[in-house]
Amino acid sequence: MKTAKKIWMNGKFVDWKDANVHILTHALHYGTAIFEGIRCYDTVNGPAVFRLDDHLHRLANGTKSYQFGLDYSIKQMSDIVKKLIVINKLRSCYIRPICYIGYYSIGLDTTDAPYELAIVAFPFGKYFGGKSEKGISCAVSSWRRIKSTILSPHVKASANYLNSILAKKEAMQEGFDEAIMLSDEGHVSEGSGENIFVVKDGALITPPLHDAVLAGVTRDSLMKIARDMDMEVFERTLLRDELYTADEVFLCGTAAEVTPVNQVDHRRISEGPGPVTKILRDSFFNVVNGKDERYIKWLEFVRG
Ligand SMILES: Cc1ncc(COP(=O)(O)O)c(C=O)c1O
Repeated sequence: MKTAKKIWMNGKFVDWKDANVHILTHALHYGTAIFEGIRCYDTVNGPAVFRLDDHLHRLANGTKSYQFGLDYSIKQMSDIVKKLIVINKLRSCYIRPICYIGYYSIGLDTTDAPYELAIVAFPFGKYFGGKSEKGISCAVSSWRRIKSTILSPHVKASANYLNSILAKKEAMQEGFDEAIMLSDEGHVSEGSGENIFVVKDGALITPPLHDAVLAGVTRDSLMKIARDMDMEVFERTLLRDELYTADEVFLCGTAAEVTPVNQVDHRRISEGPGPVTKILRDSFFNVVNGKDERYIKWLEFVRG
């Protein structure tokens, strides 16, 4: 991976190589961490972070759900992110804030746990490399997405990602690029690190949040962009066979952006991005690159 010069850790900017934790860091043993994934784009008006406050709100809400102590306000975290980008002289990058329980005790009583915060920013390309443009293949996973009576699927918690990793590994070992997970009830939920959309008869359909879906910022952005284009958008339960018979399928997320899905479980969906996916993807890139004035409020410009 590409690195940067400095990382912000518990109040200080430290050198990349010095941003270390103790082996008994609680989060390392029990997954006691909540994090975010955010992108900064190199727009004509300089670097701009896409929906920074919305990502930080999701982080803050996650820490509230799990009763983590987060000693920083949204404004303070937002300022740190922008300063970090400036210090590292980054134009476009991926940003990873993480709130975690530090070195403290081997036990599960977190009453007096030290909650730490680190923010990392580094250059980051396309999540699916060369396939991001042309499209990927997906398999419906034999692993079900975590359910809300076990762990919250709405929180971007580190512990959740073992579930995603099981699904992703299985899919890749079988020759696919990505996994699509079903909820415990067998409803289409999402990818290992992306939300999912289906296009049917010109309408967009995405699973509702109660089908074990992370409330993706990209998902929300695409629904708004599509509605502004007078497209019909439905949040409704999708069954597995609706993936096979869809006109188009795509995954979306901060890392994956808008990635077309060409086949699901060996059923051919499209050759590259279908027409609706293409329009939405082009509009999305116009928005994140600051070329669409209507959505300029979604960009947090970084002034150096
Ligand atoms: C499990 C999961 N679902 C969906 C998403 C997409 O969310 P967002 O668009 O906020 O990045 C992500 C990525 O963060 C994810 O990890």
